[in-house]
Amino acid sequence: MAAESSIWKVQLFKLNYDEREYKAAQETLESGWITMGQRTLDFEEAYAKLLGEGSKCIAVSNGTAALHIAVLAAGVLPGDEVIVPSLTFIADLNSVTVSGGKVVLCDVTSKADWAMDPADIERKITKKTKAVMIVHYAGYACDMEAIMDVCKRHDLKLIEDCAHAPGADYKGRKLGTFGDIAAWSFFSNKNLAVGEGGMISMRDPGLHQKCKNLRSHGMTVASFDRMKGRAVSYDVLEAGFNYRIDEVRSALGLVQLSKLAGSNLRRKELTLRYFMRLDAMKGLSVPFRKFNRGLPSYHIMPVLLDEKMDRARIIEVLKEDGVQTSIHYPSIQSFTAYKSHVGPTPESEYISDHELTLPLYPTMTDADVDLVCASLERALPLARQG
Ligand SMILES: Cc1ncc(COP(=O)(O)O)c(C=O)c1O
Repeated sequence: MAAESSIWKVQLFKLNYDEREYKAAQETLESGWITMGQRTLDFEEAYAKLLGEGSKCIAVSNGTAALHIAVLAAGVLPGDEVIVPSLTFIADLNSVTVSGGKVVLCDVTSKADWAMDPADIERKITKKTKAVMIVHYAGYACDMEAIMDVCKRHDLKLIEDCAHAPGADYKGRKLGTFGDIAAWSFFSNKNLAVGEGGMISMRDPGLHQKCKNLRSHGMTVASFDRMKGRAVSYDVLEAGFNYRIDEVRSALGLVQLSKLAGSNLRRKELTLRYFMRLDAMKGLSVPFRKFNRGLPSYHIMPVLLDEKMDRARIIEVLKEDGVQTSIHYPSIQSFTAYKSHVGPTPESEYISDHELTLPLYPTMTDADVDLVCASLERALPLARQG
């Protein structure tokens, strides 16, 4: 079947799918078992192997479900405060809020390093703080030594939002293995994409069991086990959700996992090509340019426009040239539901107002990068204000 036709010459992201994903999906459909089963167990085992460090994994229906379970499993109770990133996707805040916790926003380190600032985390700690949630923005590691030190000294649980970070590491150790618990997203635009899907990872067996309970109604036996004749009934240990993944997505996840190292490498090559072109442009800067904390996953290609640049105009000019862009992320303070959550997080707010995300995906060509850069070079002088 033909792919959806696109109005763009260069899309923001594209799936890295081929015959292997199509075959895996078809084989799963033909197997006669499509809800959680052996493929999910295999996917969890393979992902745990990728992470190492004695990790255990629970596959779930999406990254937000993973975060929701992570927050509950970390023991966040109504009234507890959780320090969260202010430059992130809203799922981080929502997962805390729907659990009854209160979010406390933490700023990034600087306009050049968009990782969460360990000093600001420490400043935001109160007697009510229960946990810290961090995000490895664009797949560039936060300063894990400093953040783990703060959490240890204040006896706080650490949740890593690794939605951007499959395959990335901090000084050689995989991201997602530093905190008590990590949440992963396999949404379509992610480095490992299954459409909708996610993973929770941890090392502690008690946390592992807790997350397993929360994923599937606290039930002791899955439908798969009953189908296999291993049990006829079940107990319910605690209240939980239906946050299960299905076999088709797990099968896609296994194929995508086998491609991850190669596709992250291609993302790196494309990013380095972008760096070469963007460094020579006037009117913007590139974050994480002096990054030295490990191997990133190069999830997205963000730039920071100078204050004088009219971002809306740049987006418009790029659109005229067939280039799709995005913003990661609008400021939390701009959202109706979170207006009263004053940070202050001035660096994040500034970045939200001036950030622009350029296309990046493993099947992109060098010529695509050149096309995007040529369009940006055309746009920048047109967008300079004052
Ligand atoms: C940083 C971050 N956290 C959490 C999520 C939520 O993941 P999902 O869309 O799979 O629920 C996303 C996904 O877009 C994300 O980018």
